[in-house]
Amino acid sequence: MKKRILAVEDEEKLRRVIELQLSGAGYDVDLAGTAEEAVPLLDRADLVLTDLKLPAMSGQDLLAAAHRQNAQLPVIIMTAFGTVETAVEAMKAGAVDFVLKPFSLDHLLRVIAKALEVSALRDENRKLREELGHRYQFDSIIGHSRAMQEIFATVIRVAATRATVLLAGESGVGKDLIARAIHYHSPRRDRPFVKINCTAIPENLMESELFGYEKGAFTGANTSKPGKFEQADTGTAFLDEIGDVPASIQVKLLRVLQEREFERLGSNKTLRIDVRVIAATNADLRAALEQGTFREDLYYRLNVVPINLPPLRQRMEDIPLLAHHFVAKLGSGVESISDAAIEKLMHYQWPGNVRELENVIERSLVLCSSRTLEAADIRLDTAPKTRGLGDYFLPEGMSLDEYEQTIIREALKRASGNKSQAARLLGLTRNALRYRLSQMGLESGEV
Ligand SMILES: Nc1ncnc2c1ncn2[C@@H]1O[C@H](COP(=O)(O)OP(=O)(O)OP(=O)(O)O)[C@@H](O)[C@H]1O
Ligand SMILES: [Mg+2]
Repeated sequence: MKKRILAVEDEEKLRRVIELQLSGAGYDVDLAGTAEEAVPLLDRADLVLTDLKLPAMSGQDLLAAAHRQNAQLPVIIMTAFGTVETAVEAMKAGAVDFVLKPFSLDHLLRVIAKALEVSALRDENRKLREELGHRYQFDSIIGHSRAMQEIFATVIRVAATRATVLLAGESGVGKDLIARAIHYHSPRRDRPFVKINCTAIPENLMESELFGYEKGAFTGANTSKPGKFEQADTGTAFLDEIGDVPASIQVKLLRVLQEREFERLGSNKTLRIDVRVIAATNADLRAALEQGTFREDLYYRLNVVPINLPPLRQRMEDIPLLAHHFVAKLGSGVESISDAAIEKLMHYQWPGNVRELENVIERSLVLCSSRTLEAADIRLDTAPKTRGLGDYFLPEGMSLDEYEQTIIREALKRASGNKSQAARLLGLTRNALRYRLSQMGLESGEV
């Protein structure tokens, strides 16, 4: 992918020269004449190159603003003063490097390339550290319920093999944790664990993300790039939200699962890999099968070892342990949780499952002023819910179809038209929602 540089310089001539040089060197360039103009462009920049002395808001202020948004964003300062002091100041304030005006454009390009390289390395290190942290998480997956005990036993058994695993369960039940536990208990534990979030990748980028591409495969493909599957070679690929994979990609996934082979985009060389696949879904894939939005053959290839994680409300006996665990993990200064507080937690339905429990405890700890977390400290998102039959009746005069459409429209509204998010609110896959929208005659975003 091309790196995007935000160049901020008030002198128009120099701004043009910089733009020409940078785009000539293969970067995408955003230009701004003032720091104020630059601020809204910060979040898409991979690197900021800014003059120190600017009309109103200074380069130093811009540096601070950039780091408030993203502490890792490399910022290079250009300064006309040529004194060591200003340069030192800028470095102290967190700039990665500086160039003194007048500078040669070659020198500028070298400084930029070096800064980008350092930043890529730092990202890589952070990723590694995160992975390392997760390595020890298996022992902190809590669950004394029968259901969880059985799941742990399955994890250990299946970890020893290369069998494909399909994890199913509502959002926040721990699918991510289990996927990592399988990897780190497998003989592949020292090989890569590559997570692929199928909802987060736009449909038109998915093929190149998963399978990689060759130079020239499409406009903008200046170099070749390996995809996620190649990165996962000899390790584990974790396909999260598998229900959201579009039909065109489903065929290719099937081939990976059956033959362990694929081609990069724009290449006809077949690559063979040795990869363990774990997939996860929080929606009912069977419903997607019936609607024809998910391939049956792919489903059976994925569902070799199914692991169904029950929602927290179906294993309430895990709540006390989880609560103690989270207090110990998060409660700086707070040492325990009272029986009454646990009791309160046990009377809630936990639609957001363990993630919600963790969040509630984290929030409650903030309010807690003693060494024990009390019932009064605990704020649940809504009042404890008990479901009466009345909740299930349709509003008067509405058919089931009309009711469904109303709910779908409401979800889309709440998600500001974002279909993936609306689907999540509804507990449907993106494909299942798309299917329903087409049934309603609403396909292309109109609501
Ligand atoms: N059994 C457990 N013990 C301890 N922590 C847990 C457990 N289950 C889940 N958690 C914690 O709850 C949070 C959500 O878990 P996780 O991300 O694995 O859920 P998920 O099923 O992948 O959800 P989603 O479908 O939204 O991705 C994490 O912070 C995780 O550490
Ligand atoms: Mg997850």
